[in-house]
Amino acid sequence: MAPKTSMARFTHPGEKVRILLSGARIQRRIRQMAAAIRKDFPKERLHLVGVLKGAAFFLADLARYIPGDVSFDFIAVSSYGKDTHSSGQVRLTRDLDSSIEGRAVIVVEDILDTGMTLSYLLKVFQQRKPKHLRVAVLLDKPERRVAAVRADYTGFTIPNEFVVGFGLDYAERYRNMPAVGVLSFTSSKKKAH
Ligand code: IMP
Ligand code: MG
Repeated sequence: MAPKTSMARFTHPGEKVRILLSGARIQRRIRQMAAAIRKDFPKERLHLVGVLKGAAFFLADLARYIPGDVSFDFIAVSSYGKDTHSSGQVRLTRDLDSSIEGRAVIVVEDILDTGMTLSYLLKVFQQRKPKHLRVAVLLDKPERRVAAVRADYTGFTIPNEFVVGFGLDYAERYRNMPAVGVLSFTSSKKKAH
């Protein structure tokens, strides 16, 4: 069971975090998602492809909860622009170690926001001829969607607010927080959205 989260350990002056999803709730949901994925592919070796760095914790838990053969790999992308915005321009900064041709691939992403990142990745991966190509996201913010993309497995649908924790960062901080919370700024500090 994940420990209770004390926000004071993570926030900097001028920042406030309101917990949206507790660590325990996230773990429960990831277990359910893992079971659903295995049910859809009872006999296949599942190849999880995590998008760095946000998906690292989600992938680690998902991989441990899916019974049977699982392998994984990571890819990294960068989207140009401000740290709390997705600008729409996506670029591969680290490719996979091995081929996905003929494999049952689950793309694992922290959050589906505008959809630009995932629509770019799905286009790239589709060209590599996997046997199956599915998408698992921990969080979905449907209000901000620009690209026509949907996840096959979604942990939680959340409102249009800037969230941190469980892999998600603000200026590279908060990734190690075991819960997910809404970040706000109490002073004149930069706004998240
Ligand atoms: P998309 O391309 O707009 O769907 O953006 C997805 C990426 O934007 C995620 O992988 C995150 O890195 C980042 N992102 C989107 N929303 C948030 C948020 O609320 N908090 C932290 N990062 C976010
Ligand atoms: Mg990300």
